[in-house]
Amino acid sequence: MMIKKAIFAGSSERVDQKPKALYPEFAFIGRSNVGKSSLINCLCQNKKLAHTSSTPGKTQLINHFLINDSWYLVDLPGYGYAKMSKTGRAKLSRIINEYIDRSQEMMLLFVLLDSRHDIQQIDLDFLISLGEKGIPFSIIFTKCDKSSQSVLEKQIEKNRNHLLEYWEELPQVFLSSSETGMGREEILSYIDAILNTLT
Ligand code: GTP
Ligand code: MG
Repeated sequence: MMIKKAIFAGSSERVDQKPKALYPEFAFIGRSNVGKSSLINCLCQNKKLAHTSSTPGKTQLINHFLINDSWYLVDLPGYGYAKMSKTGRAKLSRIINEYIDRSQEMMLLFVLLDSRHDIQQIDLDFLISLGEKGIPFSIIFTKCDKSSQSVLEKQIEKNRNHLLEYWEELPQVFLSSSETGMGREEILSYIDAILNTLT
């Protein structure tokens, strides 16, 4: 799928504040700093679209980006940033959960996990909660450029096996790098296939 046009369509804290024009939404979630905003920029080939930072906790609102005048990429705040105040974390958690629970236009949630690390309890808890709520999700391992091929393969295998302790089968899993564009075509094709089922 070609992204011909990608424009910022607004920031919100609640579903009732999101852009008035309703279109299918594909949202990105994961621990703070995992690379959500960078991946959205990579998909759109525009480094200035979503704001990124090497300091965790950059995205604090729900940001909608209108793609090809017909669907949205949604950049969500990250969860689990330990250094943020308890009230700050509670606020982000409220924003995230309200969006996930109430956004009827959300077709799929991409859950991002850092390809370099073991899956953490907070990620497992989050994934399990999605399962319980029946929210459709896919997994994207990010920052794959940061490891050698052999280290990457080992870690992904370990993480897959860890997830398989909880699920009989895994959802769609992607490997990505916002630096090299790895995974970009696959993720966009996957979105395209879902959009095609809607029309
Ligand atoms: P919050 O908004 O704070 O929740 O973070 P985020 O998940 O949106 O992360 P963001 O995209 O801001 O990226 C965090 C840091 O990781 C930035 O310094 C990015 O440049 C870096 N980064 C993100 N993706 C990649 C990647 O694929 N490869 C490499 N090498 N660095 C990445
Ligand atoms: Mg961000």
